[in-house]
Amino acid sequence: MVEFNLPANSRIGHGQSFPAPAGAKRTREFRIYRWNPDDGLNPRMDSYNIDLDACGPMVLDALIKIKNEVDPTLTFRRSCREGICGSCAMNIDGGNTLACLKPINEVKGAVRITPLPHMPVVKDLVPDLSQVYAQLRSIEPWLQADSPAPPDAERLQSKEERSKLDGLWECILCFCCSTACPSYWWNGDRYLGPAVLLQAYRWIADSRDEATGQRLDALEDPFKLYRCHTIMNCTDTCPKGLNPAKAIAEIKKLIVERAV
Ligand code: SF4
Ligand code: SF4
Ligand code: FES
Repeated sequence: MVEFNLPANSRIGHGQSFPAPAGAKRTREFRIYRWNPDDGLNPRMDSYNIDLDACGPMVLDALIKIKNEVDPTLTFRRSCREGICGSCAMNIDGGNTLACLKPINEVKGAVRITPLPHMPVVKDLVPDLSQVYAQLRSIEPWLQADSPAPPDAERLQSKEERSKLDGLWECILCFCCSTACPSYWWNGDRYLGPAVLLQAYRWIADSRDEATGQRLDALEDPFKLYRCHTIMNCTDTCPKGLNPAKAIAEIKKLIVERAV
């Protein structure tokens, strides 16, 4: 049994503790949120003590080591292990980030890992992203143009037009930003949130897209767009260094400009 100084009324249970291997000299504790929808129990925090001399440098390396060598029941998403797929997004040491890009030695003391906040949990560190993917579909994130493409060429852009997509195309849809946004926490059913709004702006800003008017019409809504109060958590937490708050501000600006 591990004690984590949980409040007396906490519904998080005390979990199991897995000791470091005998003889390990450089160890680190990982405290990981566990919840299994099939066992009927409350969530708990399990404690895993890992030999850092036998582990890769990133938090994802430790999670994979735990799953492979200590506890195969631990459940999390990951694929690319290099910050491209967005699947290993989780809350590490109090901040949303990608486990594969987070060095263990950036965390002081025990490494506390929980799922992305304010999302339903499927199991352990796996959030249910159904709502946010439905919202992504709603903004129709693909090129829309009625005029025919040139017969033997792509639709071309000038270098200047293409540069307007920088800071937007790099988004990997990890949803670290949306799940760090207090407005999305409280109104996630109606507010689209920073990740989806950044994607919406990615198509609005694309010189080849001819649906700008319809896209702005669809966003001009007190909840879908205007729940953003420029708190900036989204931009602070983005593991790819993007600025969703700026993209949201650009959409608001375009809506104002077309009205005058
Ligand atoms: S700036 Fe807007 S989208 Fe970003 S965290 Fe704040 S309210 Fe959310
Ligand atoms: S803007 Fe950043 S934090 Fe948000 S989904 Fe894209 S990559 Fe992730
Ligand atoms: S495993 Fe793909 S972003 Fe981390």
